[in-house]
Amino acid sequence: MGLRSNIMALLLHLLLMLASTAKCQSIFDITTYGAKPNTDITQVLANAWKDACASTNPSQLLIPTGVYQLNQSLLIGPCNSTIEVRMEGTLQAHPDPIGIGLVLFRHIDQLTISGTGAFDGQGEKGWEKNDCHLKKACTRLPMNVRFNFITNSIVKDITSLDSKNFHINLLSCKNVTFQNVTIIAPEKSPNTDGIHVSNSEEINILNTKISTGDDCVSVGDGNKQITITNVTCGPGHGISIGSLGKYTTEKEVAGVTVKSCNLINTSNGVRIKSWPDSAVAYTASDLHFEDIEMVNVSNPIIIDQEYCPSNQCNKKIPSKIKIRNVSFKNIRGTSATFVAIKFICSKDLPCDDVEVADINLSYTGTQGRITSQCRNVIPIITGKQNPRACIEVAPINSPSTD
Ligand SMILES: *[C@@H]1O[C@H](CO)[C@@H](O)[C@H](O)[C@H]1NC(C)=O
Ligand SMILES: *[C@@H]1O[C@H](CO)[C@@H](O)[C@H](O)[C@H]1NC(C)=O
Ligand SMILES: *[C@@H]1O[C@H](CO)[C@@H](O)[C@H](O)[C@H]1NC(C)=O
Ligand SMILES: *[C@@H]1O[C@H](CO)[C@@H](O)[C@H](O)[C@H]1NC(C)=O
Ligand SMILES: *[C@@H]1O[C@H](CO)[C@@H](O)[C@H](O)[C@H]1NC(C)=O
Ligand SMILES: *[C@@H]1O[C@H](CO)[C@@H](O)[C@H](O)[C@H]1NC(C)=O
Ligand SMILES: *[C@@H]1O[C@H](CO)[C@@H](O)[C@H](O)[C@H]1NC(C)=O
Ligand SMILES: *[C@@H]1O[C@H](CO)[C@@H](O)[C@H](O)[C@H]1NC(C)=O
Ligand SMILES: *[C@@H]1O[C@H](CO)[C@@H](O)[C@H](O)[C@H]1NC(C)=O
Repeated sequence: MGLRSNIMALLLHLLLMLASTAKCQSIFDITTYGAKPNTDITQVLANAWKDACASTNPSQLLIPTGVYQLNQSLLIGPCNSTIEVRMEGTLQAHPDPIGIGLVLFRHIDQLTISGTGAFDGQGEKGWEKNDCHLKKACTRLPMNVRFNFITNSIVKDITSLDSKNFHINLLSCKNVTFQNVTIIAPEKSPNTDGIHVSNSEEINILNTKISTGDDCVSVGDGNKQITITNVTCGPGHGISIGSLGKYTTEKEVAGVTVKSCNLINTSNGVRIKSWPDSAVAYTASDLHFEDIEMVNVSNPIIIDQEYCPSNQCNKKIPSKIKIRNVSFKNIRGTSATFVAIKFICSKDLPCDDVEVADINLSYTGTQGRITSQCRNVIPIITGKQNPRACIEVAPINSPSTD
């Protein structure tokens, strides 16, 4: 073969490669369905979704630049092919707390949500009505984005603003990745957890920034293989496993890794929490926290099995959640309170295999010397220890932070 035919062959090869990687997506633009900025697009979005979901080749549901009002939207599969929701604009909720959430995605495989747009919950009016931090039977406010039974999917680049309740909620999902997501709500907005995951497996949350009024990421019951990497939290209540043991329907937790995260100005750092007088008994195991940086965090490292905010439970009956195989490794930075490490485990089911290694925390205030407190746990302590875990016995009835 001559040089020319070699070059031709190379070009042909390149062309074929390009063709196979380029997506031949059918685009379903909501504006061609009649959506206009600053109007309610609930029906229009439903129509566009129906066609995009029915498409037998990969489809893209496009939300172009602009602010569109949405009451509540159920985007339900299964769909005939892969589907991408491309958010260039903002989907804005009604300020009144109506419905079940801004958008609920359900029963979809290979969903992608992308774009620099936002889900805006307009939560301010709702936050005033929220009483869930005060009592068990409370008014349930709508969430921004809910994912139920979603598999093999990616959510990237988008923003969630001012949700009335949790920003992003995952229920019964498998293999879903969140990356480069931004979540913003004020410090004083109740129950506005950033990402809450339950009954799910293979969930990855990475390169994400969450400023909110409640937990940054909360990993509820029934989860397996949850990985949280390079997430920056603050303000808010920190990264939490739990709360566990409140409802009879709950199932075990196995495998949560929190790695390379930053907590700034949060009321807790990395936390495992379960209710006393649990409604159910199960195990929470293989929970690992590694390479964490704290900046002015109030309870940097905490296991609280007497989690009982606003004293709505009986702390005298020990938690029935067994915590096992936990590690806190390479955790550094500053604590806003002098109790930098607190482990309160269940009297009936002490925590087992808790490893604490390489801690370098300093207390920035003037209330006392940096210390640590424990009950019902004997941790394995290695490496640098400032402070060493379990210097003191934790007082009975120490109040829980939210
Ligand atoms: C999938 O495609 C078939 C054939 O075009 C159609 O009849 C069906 O309604 C589509 N399914 C969905 C979920 O839209
Ligand atoms: C919002 O949706 C709910 C349920 O679909 C409906 O009852 C209500 O009237 C809608 N509100 C507005 C303002 O469209
Ligand atoms: C997880 O989902 C991604 C995105 O659809 C896919 O590329 C990957 O193959 C899936 N992984 C498994 C183990 O199915
Ligand atoms: C992350 O998302 C922002 C929009 O929120 C976007 O501008 C930026 O390009 C994304 N970064 C990467 C690495 O994709
Ligand atoms: C961590 O996430 C931030 C976005 O919050 C990103 O800019 C940075 O590149 C990520 N770091 C790594 C090592 O991926
Ligand atoms: C922490 O919060 C204080 C008080 O709200 C604020 O002044 C400070 O800038 C915050 N620090 C960081 C690093 O965000
Ligand atoms: C502890 O958790 C790690 C990570 O999930 C796992 O590899 C290891 O087998 C567990 N150890 C025990 C004793 O269960
Ligand atoms: C540290 O956090 C406390 C409590 O959240 C706050 O009052 C204080 O302003 C913060 N200090 C700095 C230096 O950010
Ligand atoms: C502990 O952290 C301080 C500042 O946060 C730093 O100066 C010091 O070198 C660290 N010590 C070790 C052994 O890493």
